[in-house]
Amino acid sequence: GLYQKAYATSFIIVGSIVHSENITSLTIIEHGFIAVVRGRIVSVCKGTEKLVKTQHKYGIDDNSVHHLSEGEFVMPGFIDTHIHAPQYPNCGLGYDKQLLDWLTTYTFPLEKKYMDVDFATKVYESIVNKTLTNGTTTAAYFATLHYDSSLFLADSVERLGQRAFIGKVNMNHDTPEGYGEDTYDSFICTEQYIRDIQGKRNELVQPIITPRFALSCDMKLMILLGELATKYNAHIQTHISENTGEVVAVQKMYPECKNYTDVYDTAGLLTNKTVLAHGVHLSDDELKVLAARGTAISHCPNSNTSLKSGLCDVRRLLNAGIKVGLGTDVSGGYSTSILNAIRCALQTSIHIFFGKGTDSDYVPLSYHEAFNLATLGGAKGR
Ligand code: GUN
Ligand code: FE
Repeated sequence: GLYQKAYATSFIIVGSIVHSENITSLTIIEHGFIAVVRGRIVSVCKGTEKLVKTQHKYGIDDNSVHHLSEGEFVMPGFIDTHIHAPQYPNCGLGYDKQLLDWLTTYTFPLEKKYMDVDFATKVYESIVNKTLTNGTTTAAYFATLHYDSSLFLADSVERLGQRAFIGKVNMNHDTPEGYGEDTYDSFICTEQYIRDIQGKRNELVQPIITPRFALSCDMKLMILLGELATKYNAHIQTHISENTGEVVAVQKMYPECKNYTDVYDTAGLLTNKTVLAHGVHLSDDELKVLAARGTAISHCPNSNTSLKSGLCDVRRLLNAGIKVGLGTDVSGGYSTSILNAIRCALQTSIHIFFGKGTDSDYVPLSYHEAFNLATLGGAKGR
């Protein structure tokens, strides 16, 4: 509630503060205050000695000073770096299949329904409400191929007061009956979509260029989308190296490319504003390229175990100098909550630790690291 009022308003919250300034520690201020001026945090203070002075400095009257109750605390909003809004109705469904069969059996048939804007309206209102309730103040959403429904997701986000990157999905290759686009339409529609969102929304709602993944888009379309990203200084999101069957199929579709990462690199899609979901099965060479491009990975541990994709070694990604955030990957993951993603990330890391033998010197993720990935780490990916 407070967050929703935060945009363009000024206020102070007095009480306990928990936040993350770096990945190795958690900052806990038992009693202090945080001052927000016109939607931006201007100070985080320990103790309340400077409270009155701060109020005067920014002209914040007593009515705009909120005192937390005993046991309450403030913390940064969660950042969901990868979520499919249209897949919300499928949460918890279809984990008898792995990625490629799961897409054709459960996911594409559901996404096709968003041709109907009334259907989209219902689901999108409810997922945005749900993620806000779970503490997600910023999300990177995949919508569907449909222009009108994707704009409606932007409407919902804007009205309900979330910060979001919203992508109209692109697919022009190996598409199911009734759910595909040709290259030209996909490009024209995406450019119009970017202009619509950049021109008409508040600055908290941004477009993001969203080729579904290398198996759904040919090289020509991916190159065009990379050019759009440059022209409009836009973010990019897609999937990479989630499932071993997928990795084999990508190598077969792009025999001239060295590996999965090289496919996106060749297309010009790897920028420092790109977020790649998963990255479970990347080679050391691929990690080097991603680190050099400043491209981030969205770690989606709930999805990776639900779809039996694998255990993503976040420690290895961090050691390679890659920016990492957390994602729910609804409905590959069954939970809309980033708090759940924190728990899953810790569990996955501990499973990797056990897999290496308990006398190994592998250090599983700590809760302060997972908290950082869910907040500041996700923000860096943006
Ligand atoms: N790869 C391509 N599309 C999807 C999707 O919708 N979900 C997941 N988890 N992976 C994908
Ligand atoms: Fe996904």
